[in-house]
Amino acid sequence: MAHQHDIRFLLNGEEKRISDVKATLTLLDYLRLDQRLTGSKEGCAEGDCGACTVLVGRLHKCSLRYETVNACIRFLASLNGCHIVTIEHLSGPQGRLHPVQQAMVEYHGSQCGFCTPGFVMSLYALWMGNPEPSVQEVETAIQGNLCRCTGYEPIVRAAMAVTHYGSPAHDHLTRERADVTARLMALQPKTRIVTGPEEDRAILPADVADLAQVLAESPEATLVAGSTDVGLWVTKFMRPISPVVFLTHLEGLKTIELSDESLTLGAGVTYSESEAAIRDAFPHLKDYWDRIAGWQVRNMGTIGGNIANGSPIGDTPPVLIALGAEVLLQSIRGTRILPLEEFFLAYGKQDRQPGDFVAAIHIPRSRPGQIDAAYKISKRRDEDISSVAVGISVTIKGDVITAARLAYGGMAATPKRATGAEAALVGQPFTAATFDTAAEALKGDFTPLSDWRASADYRITVAANLLRRFYLEQSSPADAPVRLAIA
Ligand SMILES: Cc1cc2nc3c(=O)[nH]c(=O)nc-3n(C[C@H](O)[C@H](O)[C@H](O)COP(=O)(O)OP(=O)(O)OC[C@H]3O[C@@H](n4cnc5c(N)ncnc54)[C@H](O)[C@@H]3O)c2cc1C
Ligand code: FES
Ligand code: FES
Repeated sequence: MAHQHDIRFLLNGEEKRISDVKATLTLLDYLRLDQRLTGSKEGCAEGDCGACTVLVGRLHKCSLRYETVNACIRFLASLNGCHIVTIEHLSGPQGRLHPVQQAMVEYHGSQCGFCTPGFVMSLYALWMGNPEPSVQEVETAIQGNLCRCTGYEPIVRAAMAVTHYGSPAHDHLTRERADVTARLMALQPKTRIVTGPEEDRAILPADVADLAQVLAESPEATLVAGSTDVGLWVTKFMRPISPVVFLTHLEGLKTIELSDESLTLGAGVTYSESEAAIRDAFPHLKDYWDRIAGWQVRNMGTIGGNIANGSPIGDTPPVLIALGAEVLLQSIRGTRILPLEEFFLAYGKQDRQPGDFVAAIHIPRSRPGQIDAAYKISKRRDEDISSVAVGISVTIKGDVITAARLAYGGMAATPKRATGAEAALVGQPFTAATFDTAAEALKGDFTPLSDWRASADYRITVAANLLRRFYLEQSSPADAPVRLAIA
């Protein structure tokens, strides 16, 4: 079958069909340089500041969902069949301000104004889904937006007041929903898309079977899911990555299967798409999930990408390893299933054979007697990478620990289990003394590095303290006399 060679999408109210789209053309460059839609700003070009925030509407099982994304690290070619909504689309007849913009003006939410379009787009997404948010919900909504001028308080007050200036029921994205859905349906590709020059080629496989075929033909291709890592290879390191195989549109990688026994997440499931299932199956991960980046990155970044990148400081591997997760690797040859810890071979080296892609992650649910916890230590609470992260799963029968899985990030060249500390726990009573012994054993498990995030001393001290914290949280105050060491 012939391939499609153009990328089709809606930009605000207009349908676009563009041929020969370079794989590394970012949405922000397309908007600002090509379309002269300069409302979205470039602050950092690495997904950190939120000045470039736009909304992307996409169909999932025929239902239209709008999410904030960072246009600076999102590639245009990945947006086939989507609706891109920029700040320019918000103004009403004769340039009338949108309720979110009106509230920002009335509450002095803008000073120099550089961050303002990004904040407005984040608050727009919040107001559409939740017109009367709590302060905490506003703070979560703007986790991924930085402002150097206002001190945030006027922005939070503006966000709380938007509902006085208008209702989402009257917003044009609400009124035009059925029409936009029909237009996007018509833009969904029927075949593989191949576009861009050979040195910057973009490929969008037709489905998961076609992905396996594409990788059999081009095993050297760069896979790109949410592009929250790969985007920076391009904008910061100018790395050539052609040919690029985009994955975000593949429904077959977006399955979420929750049963009494397990949760299986397709590799293309984003942090925000997985949030409800994670909260249901593993309530201890709720706060941990909220601390991964900000909404824009959580709306783009995938679990598969976080695993496949092999980073020693990715947030999901430690907690998933502690829960006993398995990774499903697929290729034209079939499927391989590995315990997740065995996927990480060495720094930057994963057990991925040519043509393999991460298809899913399978996580068993906790058994009776199993206590789970997850902790993340970073310099900033929000939108920051971990210095140390840990997943802890301990099973207790009577007073005795019968099983323990402790997996740390930031302590070694890969996410890694603390086998010495685990051995110090198993068969022992659930007491402060047991956890003190296990905390000491961590010194034999890890020889962490010092870098600008944290010193080796800090890392080893904090890793031990997190184990003691787990004990303190799980025991009654009366029998918790352990003392935390100070780095
Ligand atoms: C501002 C900002 C904040 C961040 N904060 C955090 C944080 O708090 N915690 C954290 O852990 N990470 C954080 N990250 C990093 C990033 O968001 C995550 O690692 C994310 O999960 C990567 O997923 P992705 O879909 O964007 O991957 P991509 O960037 O698309 O790809 C990442 C790597 O995985 C490969 N890949 C992707 N999908 C597959 C697949 N299915 N099979 C095989 N290979 C694949 C790609 O080839 C590439 O090597 C942050 C990033 C940014 C920009
Ligand atoms: S320009 Fe800073 S997040 Fe995009
Ligand atoms: S108003 Fe100046 S950066 Fe926010």
